[in-house]
Amino acid sequence: MRTIEPPQIEASAEADFTATEVSEFINRESERRQSNKVLHGHPSPMYWKPLPEPVETLLEKRADYARDNDFAVNLYVGTPFCLKTKPARCGFCLFPSEDYRGNSGVESYLALLEQEFEMYKPYYGQDKLSSIYFGGGTPNLYRPEHYGRLMGFVDKLYGGVPDDIEISLEGIPQLFNEDKIRAIKEAGFNRVSMGVQQLNDNLIKYSGRKQTRQQVYNALENCHKYDLASSIDLIYGWPEQTMDDMLEDLRIAVDAGVHHLTHYELNVAGRSDFASKAKRDLLPTIQTNKEMYRRAKDYLQSQGFEQVTVYDWKRTPASEANQRADRYDYEHNMHDFVDHDHGDIKRTQQVCGIGFAAVNFHVNGVDPQTDSWIYMNHTSLARYTEKMEQKQFPVDRGFHYNPHDVKLAWLFQSMQTMKIDFVDYRQIFNENLLDSYSSIWMEIDKRGWIKTTDRELQFVDDGQYYIPMLQSLVASKRLEQIRSERKQTLQNIEVVTEVG
Ligand SMILES: C[S@@+](CC[C@H](N)C(=O)[O-])C[C@H]1O[C@@H](n2cnc3c(N)ncnc32)[C@H](O)[C@@H]1O
Ligand code: SF4
Repeated sequence: MRTIEPPQIEASAEADFTATEVSEFINRESERRQSNKVLHGHPSPMYWKPLPEPVETLLEKRADYARDNDFAVNLYVGTPFCLKTKPARCGFCLFPSEDYRGNSGVESYLALLEQEFEMYKPYYGQDKLSSIYFGGGTPNLYRPEHYGRLMGFVDKLYGGVPDDIEISLEGIPQLFNEDKIRAIKEAGFNRVSMGVQQLNDNLIKYSGRKQTRQQVYNALENCHKYDLASSIDLIYGWPEQTMDDMLEDLRIAVDAGVHHLTHYELNVAGRSDFASKAKRDLLPTIQTNKEMYRRAKDYLQSQGFEQVTVYDWKRTPASEANQRADRYDYEHNMHDFVDHDHGDIKRTQQVCGIGFAAVNFHVNGVDPQTDSWIYMNHTSLARYTEKMEQKQFPVDRGFHYNPHDVKLAWLFQSMQTMKIDFVDYRQIFNENLLDSYSSIWMEIDKRGWIKTTDRELQFVDDGQYYIPMLQSLVASKRLEQIRSERKQTLQNIEVVTEVG
């Protein structure tokens, strides 16, 4: 058998960055807390702006090219509500949400959501669904009778809900009681994703949640009793968390039989309580977080879990009853959103987002030259309601991708999986990845953070822990350009206003 030698990582005249730029960036940023991108890919919503044309025009263009291409659609449905906590937003959360104020608010929201589903009928009705995800907020705040109704909205829009795709619902442990789990199962869901964060009853208190370890056990038991694939989110780097606390949480989760685990590093940002000086002083150091990443990895591997992204772990082999737990489709479809076969691009995975704060990702990987967009619905319930009452799409802002952005979005997603298939990259984008970013690969190779095979760059050792930083590095030149374009536009507006 012929063996193919891995290519050498070497300097290229086509490199986007100089060696000094790369080493200065890494020296500076590796000393800072990593900021994992649990929310969005390239570019951050910070750079999005009001759409320049009515969303109906974008939707019509998309419907036109979607008719001629095989598009796979991942449906996301947003929920605004969360139980009120003190500190607000569980102390750490960076997702948009609104305090739950009783069932009447929920009923009003569901009526608007139904209306939004209907508005999309001319544009999305022909699509084929690949996966469905109800996220939030806290979608298990709904009452048992609501789940069938929600699935009815999907059924009406798409003319049926396929029974062979992954259909997930997110929520918090204390609200997954047996009545709800039964209703969730009967409505057609087959996977539950639970935000646990901490299993230690003392540490979870920092979030203001009234959540106990026993409630997590009960919720998992209910999921497994009704044959729902279970996934839980844990966070490491939490205030006052020790290495032993972290390992104990992982052990409990593994022993409780979870099918999938998300192990996020705490992202300390914005105006969250955990970003306050008092809480920052309680956080494990960056060195400890790095060590936590390593120890968690060793432990989960020793328990037969396979790492799928920097944060995601799946149990192997998947149990017979829960083959679906092994698929984890909604998230993974986005990690390689251009499906292709030896360079022959077959289809693009898109996201259709409906509801509060939902994101639509309409990137055309089949032809990156055509219009590609990402945009987001309003993240304030008042604004969302106002728009819906005016019978307008409740879109807040978005970003128009140029072909370079499509590449960066793909690279960003690929890096989440800790590897980049450079053969795929060349086939999809017609460009040599090893040349374009050669100074980055050389620097991280020197640090022992990367390995090459005959078709992949694999991030290893601290290279995995630093993926958020490396994603920012790869996109940094383009972000500089976006920032300067934005400044220029603002200056032009000022000039026009002065002249006017
Ligand atoms: C949409 S959120 C939460 C869904 C659900 N309401 C819950 O609390 O479980 C999904 C996940 O993002 C993660 N997350 C949110 N903010 C985070 C932060 N600042 N750092 C790390 N992970 C975060 C949490 O693990 C959370 O479970
Ligand atoms: S962590 Fe979950 S429950 Fe808490 S504020 Fe965020 S979305 Fe809501």
